[in-house]
Amino acid sequence: MLLLLLFAVIPFVAAASNGVLFTSSVTYCEPPETLLIQQFDLTYFAQNQSIFFDIAAASVQKNLNVSANIVLNAYGMTLVNITVDLCSILGGALCPLPTYQFNGSETISLPASLGVSKRIPEIAFRIPDFEAYAQLTLTEATTNDVKACVQATLSNGWSTRQPAVEWAIGILILLLLLAGLWQTLRSSLHPLLAHRLVDLFHLFQFIATTGLFSLNYSLLYRAFTLNFAWTLGLVSSSAIQAAIDSMRSRTGGTMPNSSSTSAVGLVDRKLSPWNTNLAVPSAAQSMLLADTDYTPTGYTPTNLSRIALTQVQRLDSTSAQVQTVTTSSSNVLQAGIPIYVNSIHIGSANAFDTVFIVALVILAITITLSLILYGLLLLADRLDWGSDTQRRRYRNMFPGFIKSWVLRLALIAWPPILLFAIYQWTLKDSWLSTLFSVITFLAVSALIIWPTFQMVRLVRQHSTGIFDVPDSGHYEPLYGRFRAPRYFFYIVFLAAIFLRAVVVAAGQGHGLTQIILCLIIELAIVLAHIFLKPFKTRRGDVFSAYFSIVRLVCTGLMIAFVESLTVAAIPRVAIGAVIAVILSIAVIVLVCNIVFSLVRWPWQRRARQATLTETSTLEKGQSPPRSIHDRPSSPSSASTPTARLSSSTANLTHQ
Ligand SMILES: *[C@@H]1O[C@H](CO)[C@@H](O)[C@H](O)[C@H]1NC(C)=O
Ligand SMILES: *[C@@H]1O[C@H](CO)[C@@H](O)[C@H](O)[C@H]1NC(C)=O
Ligand SMILES: *[C@@H]1O[C@H](CO)[C@@H](O)[C@H](O)[C@H]1NC(C)=O
Ligand SMILES: *[C@@H]1O[C@H](CO)[C@@H](O)[C@H](O)[C@H]1NC(C)=O
Ligand SMILES: *[C@@H]1O[C@H](CO)[C@@H](O)[C@H](O)[C@H]1NC(C)=O
Ligand SMILES: *[C@@H]1O[C@H](CO)[C@@H](O)[C@H](O)[C@H]1NC(C)=O
Repeated sequence: MLLLLLFAVIPFVAAASNGVLFTSSVTYCEPPETLLIQQFDLTYFAQNQSIFFDIAAASVQKNLNVSANIVLNAYGMTLVNITVDLCSILGGALCPLPTYQFNGSETISLPASLGVSKRIPEIAFRIPDFEAYAQLTLTEATTNDVKACVQATLSNGWSTRQPAVEWAIGILILLLLLAGLWQTLRSSLHPLLAHRLVDLFHLFQFIATTGLFSLNYSLLYRAFTLNFAWTLGLVSSSAIQAAIDSMRSRTGGTMPNSSSTSAVGLVDRKLSPWNTNLAVPSAAQSMLLADTDYTPTGYTPTNLSRIALTQVQRLDSTSAQVQTVTTSSSNVLQAGIPIYVNSIHIGSANAFDTVFIVALVILAITITLSLILYGLLLLADRLDWGSDTQRRRYRNMFPGFIKSWVLRLALIAWPPILLFAIYQWTLKDSWLSTLFSVITFLAVSALIIWPTFQMVRLVRQHSTGIFDVPDSGHYEPLYGRFRAPRYFFYIVFLAAIFLRAVVVAAGQGHGLTQIILCLIIELAIVLAHIFLKPFKTRRGDVFSAYFSIVRLVCTGLMIAFVESLTVAAIPRVAIGAVIAVILSIAVIVLVCNIVFSLVRWPWQRRARQATLTETSTLEKGQSPPRSIHDRPSSPSSASTPTARLSSSTANLTHQ
């Protein structure tokens, strides 16, 4: 698993010798008048200095003399800003602008005299999630009216979003789920792996959530967090999205549908990768082309296929593939959840419904598996499989097993459902989506809040620690890791998840406020760790405190992404990379911990078995067959030598 993660990172470090730059999105920056574009793919190969283009465009206005302005902006710096009067080049072939439909796809070698290779720094081909765009503006020479404006973002194909990483964390989760199920079935004293499954999910969900704030993330960091989007239930599938689109449009939804095209073209121009709020004319401005004789010899537009203009239909900009994005148009994606979910082809208003459908699928799988398991138990009774005592043991532990796993699933589903349900309420879109969100929110919250009430009631009734209360076994996913006097500490984590979801979902559009509130939340968790020392061992406290400090530090570093601070693009990329590294290390630490406990587990089981045989007579006298979640007395209430012994084995598993 680690190797897979590493392999995903290596490509960025390795030199990309055969670098390419290509257009990753094309949009109009003014409503199209003169120049209509159906397709615009441009690729520059550094290796052989050639350009591949696949362009379908039409110039439709007659008798128009224009000057062309080309701007190239990388990381907020204007690298190129040249204006060419088209009447003064190519012997006037473009003056007035010829009207024709141009459909062409060709690879051409750039003449060395242009010296393009010298002007594109090597890093542009290597840095993941390159932030750059090119803009072509045609201005009527006499009136200065903008006749056409086209923007295209550039990419080099490298990204911190890697399918390999998504698969790796998926396989990791699956293995851990199987190990956790096995461990709870083998009546482990303390299902550490099952706890770690919830922990790992919550860590991944935290990482994904850091991409949802209304901040001006660097493209690199947003792409990194998108690796973890599926842990929030954001699984994009065009079939599901189409179904949600039609469901919303029939129930009063008016927000834009999901789109299968790249969302980067719709991103607010103030944000990465556009960075127009930072655009400063740089010294490099006059560097390109100004000192060369800009006459592409041997290659003139007259050599391109000309097609009669009668075939060209004026494109309706709403139905066209190429959209118009201006500061005043309504299709601009704002920072936060809209950009994040649209980057994975999920419409902003479809976000909750997507999570909802994924949750339904998981619910269906859970119910099916439970029924199969129950059926197996009945079948075992019928066919006399195994010994009587074995069958009784499994029958006894079945309800507790199901209850505790439902609780774990609820703990995993709670953060995304909270977040996207609250976000759905802020949208006022389809009433059916809102209804679903209210129901799901209440149902999943009840699955978590009800056990909490039950536990408080049980503890009151028995006036002992929770660990000595019989029938509390299936609430173990909540309290099991904490020492007896601090059994309620899980509420700190749940409260943090709740508050974080409220801040992120309800605070969309207020990045600075979101970050400050989240910093307070994370700080509170760190302080709670320091003052309450909730875990059974010092190592457990340190381990959990480490993750809360990681969350605090990463949230703090994200201040650099606050839009109003207008931090330059390159520092934002660097800070994004630092946060990504810190979070990746946290993931690796957690995974290593899981691997170690997996390796040590059989040994612990043997140690426990020894204690169990020692205490078996005692236990039989005391209580009916123990459910898997019954545990020995906690260290604080340990009084008999056997209890001390078994609690010391339990300690081994807690960290
Ligand atoms: C465009 O420029 C050409 C050549 O300079 C000139 O003959 C023509 O009248 C101009 N057309 C307009 C509309 O200005
Ligand atoms: C390009 O240069 C022109 C003047 O030379 C200036 O008006 C324009 O704002 C510049 N564009 C950008 C994007 O810097
Ligand atoms: C040019 O390309 C556009 C879009 O791909 C297409 O609709 C049109 O039919 C093509 N025209 C010709 C003459 O090939
Ligand atoms: C340049 O190299 C790319 C692949 O590396 C190739 O697809 C393209 O055809 C080459 N261009 C020329 C003009 O040979
Ligand atoms: C979304 O798609 C549905 C069909 O799936 C359509 O009826 C509806 O008009 C679309 N809504 C928007 C805003 O484009
Ligand atoms: C167009 O360019 C190609 C090479 O790209 C050349 O073979 C052809 O002869 C040219 N056609 C005309 C009409 O100049």
